[in-house]
Amino acid sequence: MSRIAYVNGRYLPHCDAAVHVEDRGYQFADGVYEVCEVRGGRLIDERRHMERLVRSLSELRIAMPMSLRALSVVLHEVVRRNGVRDGIVYLQVTRGVAKRDHAFPPNGTRPAIVVTASRIDPARTERFAAEGIAVVTVPDNRWDRVDIKSIALLPNVLAKQAAREQGAREAWFVASDGTVTEGSSSNAWIVTAGREVVTRKADHSILKGITRTVLLEVLKAHDLTLVERPFTVAEAMGAREAFITSASQTVMPVVRIDGQPVGNGAPGLVASALRADFGRYTEKS
Ligand code: PDD
Repeated sequence: MSRIAYVNGRYLPHCDAAVHVEDRGYQFADGVYEVCEVRGGRLIDERRHMERLVRSLSELRIAMPMSLRALSVVLHEVVRRNGVRDGIVYLQVTRGVAKRDHAFPPNGTRPAIVVTASRIDPARTERFAAEGIAVVTVPDNRWDRVDIKSIALLPNVLAKQAAREQGAREAWFVASDGTVTEGSSSNAWIVTAGREVVTRKADHSILKGITRTVLLEVLKAHDLTLVERPFTVAEAMGAREAFITSASQTVMPVVRIDGQPVGNGAPGLVASALRADFGRYTEKS
């Protein structure tokens, strides 16, 4: 099945799907995005992803390109036209097309929107989960509003590449005080010897992951204690378990940090149980 993208009102074959050279996303990374998991052809937690989109847009004073209802139709239509049963749907909104000038474009400039969908082989993700993944640490050199899901991802790109070059699947950003903020495209968690589940508070220093939000419900159901506080790299290396969360991976066990094994070097029981149960707590649409 050939791939189709939605670009500013039209469903186009990928080979014809393009944005203008003066799209402000292209020139200034002046835009935001969302990634929603697709399972069995249905969108996972669409409502929460759209709430976060509305917040990101409003923080940057970019207008909604269309109503949420219309957007939902487009998201589902792109998934359908691409025949995606398991994978992701990607949505990007920029401040639109205008003559290059750093300041906002003239009033009435329409935001630009792109939606794509792609397949992810669930068996491959399961294999990673069964083995656990390695992470490396990198200095957190991002701006101080990473709670906004902006398309300006250069530090994240460099961090992920650093991970790949060291045979790891993810990079954890480390703040100047030695604490882990989050992954290049995921939130970071540890499980302590006392079985407390620790993750950073969702302030301006991390993206408030939708998977993170849903996982808080799963923790309650599993009678696990959540502690929202920073943790250091050394604490994570000595923790009983570590894991990451993101829309495309849900709960993914971490078994090595900078080459050091976490716990006994195998996926932890808590992370595996949370992963197994996660789907029961998501909304499907
Ligand atoms: N990334 N932190 C960062 C920096 C992220 O980019 C992401 C998501 C998350 C987890 O958020 P959520 O649980 O809502 O997926 C945390 C997406 C998947 C991406 O960029 O592909």
